[in-house]
Amino acid sequence: MFETLKPQPADKILALMAMFREDPRDTKIDLGVGVYKDATGLTPVMRAVKAAEKQLWEAENTKTYTGLAGEPAYHAAMAGLVLGAGYPADRLSAIATPGGTGAIRQALELIRLASPEATVWLPDPTWPNHASILAYLKMKSATYRYFDGETRAVDFSGMAEDLATVKAGDVVLLHGCCHNPTGANLNLTQWGEVADILSKRGAVPLIDIAYQGFGDGLDADAAGTRLIAERLPEVMIAASCSKNFGIYRERTGILMALTAPSQKAVTQGTLAFLNRQNYSFPPDHGARLVTMILTDDALRADWQAELEEVRLSMLGLREQLAGELRRLTGSDRFGFLAQHRGMFSRLGASPEQVERLRVEHGIYMVGDSRLNIAGLNAATVPILAQAIVDCGI
Ligand code: LMR
Repeated sequence: MFETLKPQPADKILALMAMFREDPRDTKIDLGVGVYKDATGLTPVMRAVKAAEKQLWEAENTKTYTGLAGEPAYHAAMAGLVLGAGYPADRLSAIATPGGTGAIRQALELIRLASPEATVWLPDPTWPNHASILAYLKMKSATYRYFDGETRAVDFSGMAEDLATVKAGDVVLLHGCCHNPTGANLNLTQWGEVADILSKRGAVPLIDIAYQGFGDGLDADAAGTRLIAERLPEVMIAASCSKNFGIYRERTGILMALTAPSQKAVTQGTLAFLNRQNYSFPPDHGARLVTMILTDDALRADWQAELEEVRLSMLGLREQLAGELRRLTGSDRFGFLAQHRGMFSRLGASPEQVERLRVEHGIYMVGDSRLNIAGLNAATVPILAQAIVDCGI
């Protein structure tokens, strides 16, 4: 049977990771995959995670199965983190998932079960795996305008115009914060307008929030998601703990669904069913650490302090890069780098220029010129700035 298999398209981000590893140059700079690195190039285990792991190692006396949907304490802790302390428990169903990608996959499976004909609208551009999973599941998808390549800001009038055409029951995927790949985000007024449009159209938002705490802070980054959750009757939220807890390989995510209270039992049951069909019990270790950190005052305070250090270091690198490019080009063309939030910005380089950066300078970024700010440090920012100028970007 295996002779019928055809090669699958390589994921661009993961292919870049492999190319970087194979590059023998010791001056190479990885601005590809979205992983936080400190000034020494290390992706550290956060202090609170280490402390929680130690406590867990001492206290844990069984590795028997956890709940099919994951632990209710994890659901509650994550709902509080994303939706705020007063989240509507009577409307909330949730499952622990393997990472944020697992949550997206389960959300799409839920949509397919509930409404197989629904179109899922993606921002243009978006994280490539969104479109890839949708195509794999043979679901209908469409795109709405999101990014203005000239201004490097959100094309809000284009977005609003496109969203005004979605049909009742269609699903609109929104990035909760720190848009991947552009770094350009909605302000709260625009979130309000999006809520108005979606409720007028009868559309269902699916919010992908994978970088909470990396933009303007934990609460500010969730403000748009909270506004949508308050205003729309049905909302899905896929959240990842990979980045803000630095536990990438533990595969820790959650899918939350807000429904009418009368639909909660069937929704919760369906989510647990989907876990059973796809992988049975979700991974527990990361979810347990996250629960411990979020429910212990000291661990939580330390986690928040370290996350804030990470956020501020990325903001500092943004300022430094924008400043360096201002000095080298004598213009404010790259001022958007300091305005964008999160790990990513889209530089606006052509695929040929991205290739030159890689071949001539050993600087790796995704082909659409998405760069991971956290891959830089104070010493490599001037090197990147000079290479950008040398490649005529
Ligand atoms: C990214 O966009 O680089 C991250 O979300 C990692 C991934 O899985 O693609």
